[in-house]
Amino acid sequence: IFGFGGGREDIWHPEEDVYWGSESEWLGKSRYEDHNSESLENPLAAVQMGLIYVNPEGVDGNPDPLKTAQDVRTTFKRMAMNDEETVALTAGGHTVGKAHGNGDASKLGPEPEGAPIDDQGFGWKNPAGKGNAEDTVSSGLEGAWTTTPDRWNHTYFHLLLNYEWELKKSPAGAWQWEPVNIKEEDKPFDAHIPGVRQNPIMTDADMAMKMDPEYRKISERFYKDPAYFEEVFARAWFKLTHRDLGPRSRYLGPEVPKEELIWQDPVPTVDYSLSEAEIDEIKTKLLNCGLSPAELINTAWDSARTFRCSDYRGGANGARIRLAPQKDWEGNEPKRLQKVLEKISEVRSGLSKKVSMADLIVLGGSAAIEKAAEKAGITVRVPFLPGRGDATQEMTDAESFEVLEPLHDGYRNWLKKQYSVQPEELLLDKTQLLGLTAPEMTVLIGGMRVLGTNHGGTKHGVFTEREGALTNDFFVNLTDMRYSWQPVSENLYNIVDRTSGTTKWTATRVDLVFGSNSILRAYAEFYAQDDNKEKFVNDFVKAWVKVMNADRFDKNI
Ligand code: HEM
Repeated sequence: IFGFGGGREDIWHPEEDVYWGSESEWLGKSRYEDHNSESLENPLAAVQMGLIYVNPEGVDGNPDPLKTAQDVRTTFKRMAMNDEETVALTAGGHTVGKAHGNGDASKLGPEPEGAPIDDQGFGWKNPAGKGNAEDTVSSGLEGAWTTTPDRWNHTYFHLLLNYEWELKKSPAGAWQWEPVNIKEEDKPFDAHIPGVRQNPIMTDADMAMKMDPEYRKISERFYKDPAYFEEVFARAWFKLTHRDLGPRSRYLGPEVPKEELIWQDPVPTVDYSLSEAEIDEIKTKLLNCGLSPAELINTAWDSARTFRCSDYRGGANGARIRLAPQKDWEGNEPKRLQKVLEKISEVRSGLSKKVSMADLIVLGGSAAIEKAAEKAGITVRVPFLPGRGDATQEMTDAESFEVLEPLHDGYRNWLKKQYSVQPEELLLDKTQLLGLTAPEMTVLIGGMRVLGTNHGGTKHGVFTEREGALTNDFFVNLTDMRYSWQPVSENLYNIVDRTSGTTKWTATRVDLVFGSNSILRAYAEFYAQDDNKEKFVNDFVKAWVKVMNADRFDKNI
């Protein structure tokens, strides 16, 4: 065991706001653009709705270990696992336990939520034999992978590499691989019947560990060097079970390993503090450095929006927006970003304290928002929590950051391309990942539109004559019955004056959903009220600061 960190939370309800895929049927599969594994819709990792990884019988149920290898590689890469970690985890995982398919899967009762009340939530009731133990049916494959499936040993690679394997059907009718002419002493003990041995099995994914040339090299190395296999497995297992705990500062308990690992996205600590007066002085410098308020706000937003509360990765801390791969992401508008970073660096070099770029990027956004509120006639102070560090490229696992690339951002009214999922649904997913509520989403969208922060400077949803002032105009005009909303193309609408017939503004689905969805409309009407102008600004600032500080686990906020 490499170590243990506590700190996971229990939840008590299904996560209905998580995007699991657009399919509405179990084992549905409409997440590929074409037939290759890499076209799997990002950020999904499982190949089919309802599976954890890949289909154990082969791609679409057709055994072919070389094809399955490609699916496994894509799936595990999305979990930030490289080839070596993938082989170690699959082999190590399948060293213990067994697959269950000793019966007829079609005889199983309905799933737990669909089962009658007297099933008491157990579901998939099995009417055959004992209904459990040797009669269990789950995946439908049947058998163990190793000679002693009740304990850790190294027989997985011995069996996989030293025997020929042929395709067979399990008693439940699933494809599985079984060895040709296996010696009696190599056969696994039956899990339930003393003195009986059974054939071992391999899933198509296990066979990939032998047939794929890259996986095979690793399998052979592990077979020859069991100590090395154990070391890689222990580390990969620790990664698998801790990767969604976030930065090391969130780990609890005495068994947390001392070693800092690159997949923990380390960020150096800073040794300065800033007084309110110093913060004000820096804000003035940032506002006068030649950048527009929208440029400052966009950069702060882009640096923070990568945060996802599913695994606590991303966020403004570390200022990884300066580094590959983030600096080149289309969503970050690389040219604008480059310019903004250069200007902020200049401000930085003129400061007496070595304030981090991460802090300055966030502070630039705060300063610009305060100015924009002032333009709307409201004085507000955007709370700022200094102490972010700047990561280096060496501290950054660039490849594993690729999956954090924003492919859409409703907050900046942007889609990289048209997806099968509607833009407003993608906005919900982003909102959930940022840990925001529906009212927070509403107030942020309304504010960001009038601040002119759309990607590429488009004007969709900018329902105001006073762009750059933090007014509630977005909501006022969205809910104004003077206008009608006319579709132009799939994700574009004209906002037309009912009397004159002239087009006043343009909008996307993300803008219009705040008028069409009854719950969101209620929030929009609330913020449109004349007597809520100040509340709108204050709520905007609160939601904004929540995003900026989403990854400040070092501060326990
Ligand atoms: C490469 C992709 C993988 C595939 C296709 C796969 C497939 C399967 C299947 C079909 C079963 C049998 C389930 C049942 O019938 O009860 C199973 C069981 C199991 N898997 Fe995997 N698996 C994969 C990777 C992993 C990984 C990465 C781990 C852990 C590190 C793991 C650990 C286990 C364990 C411990 C069992 C036995 C469960 C039991 O005894 O009830 N598997 N796997």
